[in-house]
Amino acid sequence: MKLVHTLEDLRAALKPYDSPAFVPTMGNLHAGHLDLVRTAKPLGDVTVASIFVNRLQFAPHEDFDTYPRTLQADCDKLATEGCDVVFAPSEKELYPEPQGFKVQPPAELADILEGHFRPGFFVGVSTVVMKLFQCVFAQAKGPRYAVFGKKDYQQQMVIRRMVQQFALPVTIVGAETQRAPDGLALSSRNGYLSESEREEAVQLSLALRALARDALAAADGLPAHRDGLEARALQALAARGWQPDYLTVRRRVDLQPPTALDAATAQSLVVLGAARLGSTRLIDNFEI
Ligand code: PAF
Repeated sequence: MKLVHTLEDLRAALKPYDSPAFVPTMGNLHAGHLDLVRTAKPLGDVTVASIFVNRLQFAPHEDFDTYPRTLQADCDKLATEGCDVVFAPSEKELYPEPQGFKVQPPAELADILEGHFRPGFFVGVSTVVMKLFQCVFAQAKGPRYAVFGKKDYQQQMVIRRMVQQFALPVTIVGAETQRAPDGLALSSRNGYLSESEREEAVQLSLALRALARDALAAADGLPAHRDGLEARALQALAARGWQPDYLTVRRRVDLQPPTALDAATAQSLVVLGAARLGSTRLIDNFEI
């Protein structure tokens, strides 16, 4: 496996290949990331992972400075999975000057849910992903694939829409959320949890499953009852000491509130949630 830090070295490493399969990450890799790499491997003739903690997607009060940087351990894990090239640029390499040009995703998709609670987050994500795609795919002649985890459900949707609207020659592949044995979605931020918080953390996924059951039981009455069901789910989690941002039922196609027709259509809904446990903010979702 080659570890490269500059664009020039990345281009040299990818020169012999036609069809990169790419997994963008911010490092601090866990089994969920490694599953993305396993998904990517059969898709191209070279598997590339990037490790870059992207300042643009962090608000000033968020954990950019403390986000764990574990390059050596990450590379060991990627090598074990058969990753071929790791691109780990410095900030100066990826943003040699302040990034004035940015990708602005549509408000109806990017200013709701995560975007509402983390203003500017999807501008930062879209901008860095666009740039990483330029870096990784510039010399490709064959199909280009990029793999994203479904745990970041809205992120994946924003990236798919960006690829579609900019006609980027990249196929986005979604990989299922990996979970710990108790059902907690794997996330780099789980590492921030204390022992007792870690035990409690699964309650977010349980609250979402309960909301999903209620939503399915409401059937085409869901639009009328949705606010009440969501409020009950929020209260239940808050009563356990969480600070929930949102627990909501949306339609999969555009993350807008479902109509009666959506609610009556099989496999059209998704429940999504974000909540803070102590100082750690966790997100999760289930398609229903
Ligand atoms: O999901 C992540 O880890 C990040 O948002 C991504 C896609 C690597 C962009 O920085």
